[in-house]
Amino acid sequence: MNKVDVFLNNINNLPVFPRTAIEFLQLIKNKETSLAEIGEYISKDSTLSAKILKLANSPYYNRGREIRSIKQAVVFLGSDIIKGIVLSLSIIRMFPMKVGGKELDRTLFWNHSVAAAFIASKLSKDFNLWVPDEAYTAGLVHDIGKLLYNQFFPEDYDSVVKRTLKGEGNYIEIEKEVFGYTHYEFGYKIAEKWNLPEGIKEVIRDHHGLTDKTNCKVLVAIVGFSNVFSKQIGYNFPWEFEPLTLKNNVFWNEMMKANPGLKEIDEAFFTFQIREMKDKIEELIKESMEG
Ligand SMILES: [Fe+2]
Ligand SMILES: [Fe+2]
Repeated sequence: MNKVDVFLNNINNLPVFPRTAIEFLQLIKNKETSLAEIGEYISKDSTLSAKILKLANSPYYNRGREIRSIKQAVVFLGSDIIKGIVLSLSIIRMFPMKVGGKELDRTLFWNHSVAAAFIASKLSKDFNLWVPDEAYTAGLVHDIGKLLYNQFFPEDYDSVVKRTLKGEGNYIEIEKEVFGYTHYEFGYKIAEKWNLPEGIKEVIRDHHGLTDKTNCKVLVAIVGFSNVFSKQIGYNFPWEFEPLTLKNNVFWNEMMKANPGLKEIDEAFFTFQIREMKDKIEELIKESMEG
């Protein structure tokens, strides 16, 4: 039995998935949930409230108007931004930010994940493809296997990254060789133990390619596409860069099946809109990582 199996077999090893995130996802799944209720939920958590107020008053989110209460912040930022912030903060703060200085830059990791999450929820919403909040959450956790490898097997993870950077082979192949499982296979095993919603588990397992086991094809395609797209606009790890062309992308084709209207997307404008969010994404990560 390899050490990853040993790790998986010991239930005490399992990190806890942030319950607040799941609770919050359930709260907002209900279409009737009002902004006031979202505000009330946030107010119960003082750390979260403080961080949201700070973000709402930072120059990236706000030019000039002082926001003094959560109620004001929720109305001012709007429900999409506020939901994204709450989900990101609740998930990111559950994982330690430093693991003995080993190879996986957490700022980079979360920037990539949050960028993918924003893109996934925007596509879902603009093209009516999926519930945007679920797509957001799935985007946020799609690579969780990498983070957990880095957290629980820092030396081995370090060697995967170093060997990839030295050009010894493809990152995924080296991952598989060192651990016996790729980050998506490992991530899926953990997600099963966490009892995450079906679609999110599938995104973790299949975001590198649809398989015949994929049921939530559209959701997986949205996040799979957003993953690659986020790399294209600069949110990539130093050892990877996959140039993307919409026309031949399997995920894109899957999304087109769900909504042929996607054909009309103005790629340049869409990229511009996402790039415009860059400062907001980075500020959110900075805030999540402090304290
Ligand atoms: Fe991945
Ligand atoms: Fe990724």
